[in-house]
Amino acid sequence: MKKKGLFISFEGIDGSGKTTQVKRLGQSLRDKGYELVTVREPGGTPVAEKIRELLLDARNDGICPRTEAFLYAAARAQLVTEVINPALTEGRVVIADRYLDSTLAYQGYGRGLDTRFLEQLNRLAVAGTVPDLTIILDISPVEGMVRRSDSCPDRLEREGLQFQEAVRAGYLSLSRQYPERIKVVDAMQPPEQVYAEIVALVTPFLAQLAEAGV
Ligand code: TYD
Repeated sequence: MKKKGLFISFEGIDGSGKTTQVKRLGQSLRDKGYELVTVREPGGTPVAEKIRELLLDARNDGICPRTEAFLYAAARAQLVTEVINPALTEGRVVIADRYLDSTLAYQGYGRGLDTRFLEQLNRLAVAGTVPDLTIILDISPVEGMVRRSDSCPDRLEREGLQFQEAVRAGYLSLSRQYPERIKVVDAMQPPEQVYAEIVALVTPFLAQLAEAGV
């Protein structure tokens, strides 16, 4: 695939405020005239949405960690092929609410599956499509729980604080392993401040895109 666009992913534990920040950034970029595609994982294509239903249904409590990893990877492969790669080829900006690091953080650090194996699974699923920039919104699991206390928890959200703590530690470890790509923003700050830091991280990439004449 010949990639011309810009690919940004957002990561964080449940309740980190990712979705709100993604929406805000997306709106602002659209207002500035960028050709934008926003995606949310798992999902984003008819097949991937069906896999999402399987994964998040709280009644499916028998799904084992390996099945979980394969299902997330399968949904991702479909999304990359149908939506992300075509958009990047056309020079668009793609913003993903979760992507391959979620599998490493949740199924690897959270569930305890071998992260080297998951890296290989991810490689197979994304076939080279890795974000230019990944922003982790870092928040304590307790604060995350407070923030999503009014919604009905899905299967993963029922896992409890210890699980969320392991996932958070996983994200922070990933940011140390891939410091060029993955940046951490303290999401315990007021939303305005969080947004300002996101804009500061994204701006140089938009400038590069402009220089490339896209
Ligand atoms: P979602 O309702 O989209 O949550 P959020 O708003 O927090 O993104 O549910 C996605 C859930 O799936 C979330 O708990 C994280 C989990 N997940 C994984 O465990 N592995 C993955 O690879 C992905 C993409 C998500």
